[in-house]
Amino acid sequence: MHSTHAVVRVGDTVRRPLTESSGAVRALLLHLEKVGFEGAPRYLGRDGEGRDVLSYIDGQVPLPPYRAWSMTDHALVDLAHLLRRFHEATASFDCTGISGWASDWADPLAGRVICHNDLFPENVVFRDGRVIALIDFDMAAPGRPLWDVAIAAQEWAPLSAPDARRDHPRHLDRIARLRRFARAYGVEPDRASELVELIFAERQQALAHIRSEIAAGNQTWVDHWHETGGEERAETDDAWLEQHRDAIVDAIGSQCLNRP
Ligand SMILES: Nc1ncnc2c1ncn2[C@@H]1O[C@H](COP(=O)(O)OP(=O)(O)O)[C@@H](O)[C@H]1O
Ligand SMILES: [Mg+2]
Repeated sequence: MHSTHAVVRVGDTVRRPLTESSGAVRALLLHLEKVGFEGAPRYLGRDGEGRDVLSYIDGQVPLPPYRAWSMTDHALVDLAHLLRRFHEATASFDCTGISGWASDWADPLAGRVICHNDLFPENVVFRDGRVIALIDFDMAAPGRPLWDVAIAAQEWAPLSAPDARRDHPRHLDRIARLRRFARAYGVEPDRASELVELIFAERQQALAHIRSEIAAGNQTWVDHWHETGGEERAETDDAWLEQHRDAIVDAIGSQCLNRP
């Protein structure tokens, strides 16, 4: 839901119209290829229409409402491992002189890795129920690793009120999934408070961005926010998060899977 341009498949490639971040993303994808990171499309060049050509990754991409196969604990752990490997692969990426990164959802303090910043299920490729790749790097930008962990945790635990967000199966144990995700990523338990601060900060920044887009008349956001009851959802989710804040800190801090 973060962009309106049309990405199309052509054979075993996808074609992406250029955006302001295309140059930076191209450099990132070439770096990922160089260091042998398999969980991202390959950059293959430009086509005759001036679009970027990327490899098509064969598999299934979850769309809302997210089916049970995309929300298993296995998939959650896979995603955490893949995200960790992605961050590690980008740590050696020298982005001096590279500009044009999207700022919309980016870590305001930047950081030592590249964050994906758009870790919705729609941007994750599955095969046979396992997570195999991240796609859609248009929103990527330098950031702290925990910034992406904060985004992924919100979308995949998910950290939202069960009644307000109907995209996910209702039965998911959000706090247990957060604990599992943090543990699989390798979040040090003593960084629990820091991660929770980032979860709240990222959420506030994202909401502020959406509200400013709406105030500026961005029709895509106006329609989406209206159709999905965005403001009411935001309020309900805020209340849920506040109510569960201590449990969330404890979950990340303990990360013991046997605890209730
Ligand atoms: N490299 C790829 N391999 C497989 N599927 C892709 C790839 N790129 C895009 N897709 C599919 O196209 C959809 C839209 O592409 P995406 O890159 O997420 O663009 P956006 O969200 O900006 O429209 C994805 O959700 C996915 O289903
Ligand atoms: Mg996408």
